[in-house]
Amino acid sequence: MAAIHSYADARRLARRHLPWMVFDYIDGAAGAGSGEAANLAALRDIRLQPRVLVDVSRRDLGVSVLGQDFRLPFGISPMGMCNLARPGADLMLARLAARLRIPLGVSTVASTAMERLIEEAEGLAWFQLYFSGDGRGTMKLVDRANEAGYRVLILTLDVPEVGLRPRELRRGFTMPFHIGPAQFLDFALHPAWSLSTLAHGRPEMANFQKPGFTFDRTESRARADWDYFRQLRDRWPGKLVVKGVTSVPD
Ligand SMILES: Cc1cc2nc3c(=O)[nH]c(=O)nc-3n(C[C@H](O)[C@H](O)[C@H](O)COP(=O)(O)O)c2cc1C
Repeated sequence: MAAIHSYADARRLARRHLPWMVFDYIDGAAGAGSGEAANLAALRDIRLQPRVLVDVSRRDLGVSVLGQDFRLPFGISPMGMCNLARPGADLMLARLAARLRIPLGVSTVASTAMERLIEEAEGLAWFQLYFSGDGRGTMKLVDRANEAGYRVLILTLDVPEVGLRPRELRRGFTMPFHIGPAQFLDFALHPAWSLSTLAHGRPEMANFQKPGFTFDRTESRARADWDYFRQLRDRWPGKLVVKGVTSVPD
C-alpha cells in the first residue's frame, strides 16, 4: 500500500479503495457543503506565531482534562461504524489512543462494543451518547457505560434530526445497509474492500447486538431538552460533556 504523508494522501487512497457508498458516508457533508467549507477555511486561517531564541528542546503538550492526564491536547472524535473503512478500524483507533495517551471517543453506534474499546484504549475512552426517542432507552446505555468503566460521558446534541446529506442519499446509504443493484455494483467494483469485509463479517452497530438494546439511526432526537439533561446528570456519576454547543446563550 502507498505511504500516507498527509490528509490528502489518505483521502486519495480511500477514494480508490472504498466503495463509493462508504467513501461518501465518511467524506460527505450536509447540504451543499458550505458549512464544511467554512470550517475548513476557519482552521486554515489559524496562524501560529513562533518566537525565536527560546530554548524549545524540551517540549511538552501534555494536559489534564476531566481528571485524566493526556500526552496531547486533542483526541479522537467519536465516529460511528468505523469498521466500514476496514475490518478492525475501531480497535486500531483504540490502540492508537492507548499508545499516544489521548482520549478515544467511543460512539453510541461504534462498530465494536464499548466494553472492548475501553479495554483496548487502556481506560482512555469517553463514551458518546445519542439521545433518541424519549430518552428512556439511552439510560440503559448510560448505566452500561458506567459498568464498563467509562468516567466521561459525551452527550451529542447537534443532530436533533439526521441532516440532509446528499452524498449518502444518492448512494442509498442506510444503517444497517440495504444491498440493492446499485450497492451490489459498487461492492463488485471494490473487490479488495468487499472480500475483506465479507471475510470479517458485516460491520454492525456493536453496542446493539445485546438483547434489550436497540437503535434506529433515523429516529428523532428532537425531544432532548433541559429536563432530560437534568435526568441524565442525576443518573451519570462521572463527568458529563455536551457536544455540539455553538451558541453563546447555551
Ligand atoms: C464518519 C463519521 C462518523 C461520525 N460519527 C459520529 C457519532 O457517531 N457521534 C458523534 O457524536 N459524532 C460523530 N461524528 C462527528 C465527529 O465526532 C466530529 O464532531 C466531526 O466530524 C467534526 O470534526 P472534524 O471537523 O474533525 O471532522 C462523525 C463524523 C464522521 C466523519
